[in-house]
Amino acid sequence: MEGPTAVGRTRAVHVRRRSDDDLPALRRLAESMLQRDGYPPRVPHDLGRFIAAPGALAAFVAVSDGEVVGHVCVSPSGSPEVLDLARRALGVPEQRLAVVARLVVARPHRRQGTARTLLAEALTEVLRLGRTPVLDVATHLAGAIALYERAGWRRLGQVSVAISGAEPLDEYVYVGPLGLAADGRADVGDERAGDAGGGPGVRSARRLTAMAGWHPDCYQRAIAYVTDPSGRLLVFEHLDVAAGTQVPGGGIHVGESAEEAVLRELAEESGLDSALVVRKLGEAWNRSEPGNVPAGLEEQIQHAFHLRLGDAPRHERWEWEERSGGDVVEHRHEFRWIAVDEAERVLWPSQAMWVDAVRLSLRHPA
Ligand SMILES: CC(C)(COP(=O)(O)OP(=O)(O)OC[C@H]1O[C@@H](n2cnc3c(N)ncnc32)[C@H](O)[C@@H]1OP(=O)(O)O)[C@@H](O)C(=O)NCCC(=O)NCCS
Repeated sequence: MEGPTAVGRTRAVHVRRRSDDDLPALRRLAESMLQRDGYPPRVPHDLGRFIAAPGALAAFVAVSDGEVVGHVCVSPSGSPEVLDLARRALGVPEQRLAVVARLVVARPHRRQGTARTLLAEALTEVLRLGRTPVLDVATHLAGAIALYERAGWRRLGQVSVAISGAEPLDEYVYVGPLGLAADGRADVGDERAGDAGGGPGVRSARRLTAMAGWHPDCYQRAIAYVTDPSGRLLVFEHLDVAAGTQVPGGGIHVGESAEEAVLRELAEESGLDSALVVRKLGEAWNRSEPGNVPAGLEEQIQHAFHLRLGDAPRHERWEWEERSGGDVVEHRHEFRWIAVDEAERVLWPSQAMWVDAVRLSLRHPA
């Protein structure tokens, strides 16, 4: 079956699944890339094997007039440094990740949307597999970086990848455009996303279902509504991913009470360790949009707490790097204090729902 088409300024390019018959042409394409584009940045021992990436979950070629002019694949594996960063940043186990790799387009066919089409095809495949899409790109490949960012991929961080017999390679690691959007919409940077009724820029219900991983147990989270002495509320935004305005919170560990968890999460995420629990506001069941949280954690019980600072906050705004068990920065947050009325408008619906309870709690200090 013929796949999607990138209608270029010159000839039409079709994307289809790769077959073994494509491998010799792919190897030739890789050879010209190596000479003219310096890709891959570290010359592999066996270029044909490198580009074909044996063990790939799926691979696609772009074809024009019967000639292979582009390629991408989806791999279950990648450099340990890349997978480690993605796993930590996204909270997704390695076996739920899929790496989009070996994206190349022949020079005469560039800037005609071919890579964008290949990338969208790979992304759809990753979602169909129920995995979270990530990729890595050498920090000097400016064209590829522009392409990924234009297509809505979000940078998670940078790693230095060890390569045997060569200099280590500095790379950026990206997560696919699945949202982490707070408003329940997921832009995919792919105009075909509306096919099943989603409307432009909105992931269709069919695709969302493909992304969802069912987990028999609800994920238990503790969330902190921290107010300062003037009644303002503490909120934050992620600095590296667009995830909207939130209040601090996180998973309750085994053996930990919800109250212990809310204080620990607040300290880890914001650095604030002097807040006092006023009261528990309540518990609520909620299902997060798939793609907004790591797969498998969509169904949640939220334990909401009102906490207060005894003294005026030391900073009006501050940045905090969340690290877990070492030097690796998992998330970077920017915190600020806002009026409770504003919080109601800017927080995720599942967090805004507690704002009335915060108002009530402020009127009745413990
Ligand atoms: C990177 C590469 C795959 C892009 O392929 P392509 O088919 O030309 O990309 P597209 O036409 O789909 O580009 C889509 C958008 O990405 C951005 N983009 C792509 N190449 C770009 C470049 N060289 N400079 C700046 N922006 C670029 C543009 O926004 C472009 O849209 P526009 O043409 O309307 O401005 C191709 O240049 C290539 O094969 N490079 C060598 C191999 C490589 O670096 N692979 C990436 C490995 S991680």
